[in-house]
Amino acid sequence: MTEPIITTDNLHLFYGKKEALKGIDLSFQERGITALIGPSGCGKSTYLRCLNRMNDLIDDVTITGNVMFRDQNIYAPDTDVVALRKEVGMVFQQPNPFPFSIYENVIYGLRLAGVKDKQKLDEAVERSLRQAAVWDEVKDDLQKNALELSGGQQQRVCIARVLAVSPSVLLLDEPTSALDPVSSHVIEETLLQLRYDYTIITVTHNLQQASRIADRTAFFLQGELIETNDTKKIFMAPEKQETQDYISGRFG
Ligand SMILES: Nc1ncnc2c1ncn2[C@@H]1O[C@H](COP(=O)(O)OP(=O)(O)O)[C@@H](O)[C@H]1O
Ligand SMILES: [Mg+2]
Repeated sequence: MTEPIITTDNLHLFYGKKEALKGIDLSFQERGITALIGPSGCGKSTYLRCLNRMNDLIDDVTITGNVMFRDQNIYAPDTDVVALRKEVGMVFQQPNPFPFSIYENVIYGLRLAGVKDKQKLDEAVERSLRQAAVWDEVKDDLQKNALELSGGQQQRVCIARVLAVSPSVLLLDEPTSALDPVSSHVIEETLLQLRYDYTIITVTHNLQQASRIADRTAFFLQGELIETNDTKKIFMAPEKQETQDYISGRFG
């Protein structure tokens, strides 16, 4: 085994006095897809947001324990959070393109980083949109307002926007739950291609989706990590009774 790309060690998170994560020890190897599953409210989104410090934006949050990205403790005081979020990008449940052109959406992060070279920007747009499997559908009108695209296309443009800044890790929080089945399928196929180049961590409450696309699965319950293993093992022969109960649909 090589060094994991992300490791959390005894990670606790409190919203005020409420403990939402109760000491999570979990690590992610480079590349491939890990699904975070568990009933609503078990802490999946909270955990995901810890991995690129998105919880910093919420008031009255206390975090203890360690989150390592490669050899960097991301909660260390000298962490450059903007640089971190380039390396560890996030895609949300609701597609959230900005109300301007597809082209400007994709290069948003590059513009912020001060890239001006038109050829570089053009190349990044094509590469990212191709990787997000939406290039063929939008290439003839990159000036179109991204809000005019279908929900599934918008979500792939949002994935392209993250890929444009060349991250290592892609965090996705229920990226298909606001989409129709056909668009969801296209996103799943896209992630299955991206898994060769990126470390993908995706929250889903869709167990079929986890079993279709994830190499590894982590099962959360009430702020605790119950079990993590190869996806096949989790679904065919889980070690814990709680996991068995959840995957057989007994709760949540
Ligand atoms: N911003 C917040 N402020 C206070 N409590 C929150 C906040 N976000 C989530 N919680 C609580 O933390 C727990 C975990 O929530 P969440 O991580 O959203 O779960 P999941 O994504 O698994 O549905 C829930 O009890 C939820 O109500
Ligand atoms: Mg959630």
